[in-house]
Amino acid sequence: MNNMNAQDEQFALFHNKSAHEKVEYFKRDGRVFDMVISQQLDRSFLDTIYNITNMLRDISKTKEGAVFLQSLLPHKRAMLYFAQPSSRTFLSFENACHLLGMRTSEIRDTSVSSEVKGESSDDSLRTFSSYTDLIIMRHKERDSAERAAWLLNTFSNRPVPVINGGSGADQHPTQAILDIYTLQRSFHLQGGLDRKTILMVGDLKRGRTVRSLSYLMKNYKDMRLIFAAPKAFQMEKDILEFLDEHKIAYTIETESMERVLPLADAIYMTRIQDEHDAGSGASGRVDISKFKLRLEHMNKVKSSAVILHPFPRRDEIDVAIDPDPRAKYWREERNGMWTRAALIAFIFNVHEEILQYDGPMPIKRF
Ligand code: CP
Repeated sequence: MNNMNAQDEQFALFHNKSAHEKVEYFKRDGRVFDMVISQQLDRSFLDTIYNITNMLRDISKTKEGAVFLQSLLPHKRAMLYFAQPSSRTFLSFENACHLLGMRTSEIRDTSVSSEVKGESSDDSLRTFSSYTDLIIMRHKERDSAERAAWLLNTFSNRPVPVINGGSGADQHPTQAILDIYTLQRSFHLQGGLDRKTILMVGDLKRGRTVRSLSYLMKNYKDMRLIFAAPKAFQMEKDILEFLDEHKIAYTIETESMERVLPLADAIYMTRIQDEHDAGSGASGRVDISKFKLRLEHMNKVKSSAVILHPFPRRDEIDVAIDPDPRAKYWREERNGMWTRAALIAFIFNVHEEILQYDGPMPIKRF
């Protein structure tokens, strides 16, 4: 506490506010401006992103459509500040920006930025906002994106939107958006996402994707969650309290994933997040053998079920399962580019142009 500077103290006051207050703070003129926490994502917003995404992916399939999309934001520039490793989030955001005609700059390693000379992350962010119109960031600190959005809104003469591409072990809201999109599309012939059971498996304690996705369950009717993980990796109390508060049913399975597999409409596998072990090797001492999906398990999985994984994966899903039509994780990964383009279009308020596009679209839409 003694090492806190004046900015740290001011941020601590903001950080202690309720999620509801923060949701309001991250708006501008009543609309989402920064995308920082999953609690910002209500049903209306998710349905809007779903519709924009469906239009956008169809429009992009013709040359005329692609040129139209690139005409929407050629006057905007995005900064991709990824201080933690990433393949999918970085590449899908970069390509989402390019789909909309935006130019991009990047820092993927703080050892090649002026942070190595002692510049603070705060000052780096203010510098990025001097040159660009959007900051998309990933950082190992849990409150990194929240602080960036607060900082730029509070101090910068040129506040630009901040999108959280993963903040420590806490949140990954744009992954939750693409996961919900994938689920909505998968279940569109099965009455939508309402009344479905989602089985989450793996490192639920430190998995920012499962944490962010859990918050979204409040938007759908009669959802049920099953958390399957050894005790050491079980879901944290704050998420369980949120589910209790919103009367969302959940059960906790600590012995084996296998016996709950037949109950699931969606199976969301995750890897062990051992980058948070700080070199202790603690994760390696936990037996996770009963929380891996193998080909022989597939006869226990509903024929209508879908299998998701935010990736990267290790061996928690056998590659032999990949050709099974229930395996949707490769589609899920590609959906990240479309949903992120839809989000950026929404933030810059050009989404109505996408929704109203009446040019050629060769693919029959459902
Ligand atoms: N799902 C996800 O965040 O993947 P990356 O770490 O590769 O970005």
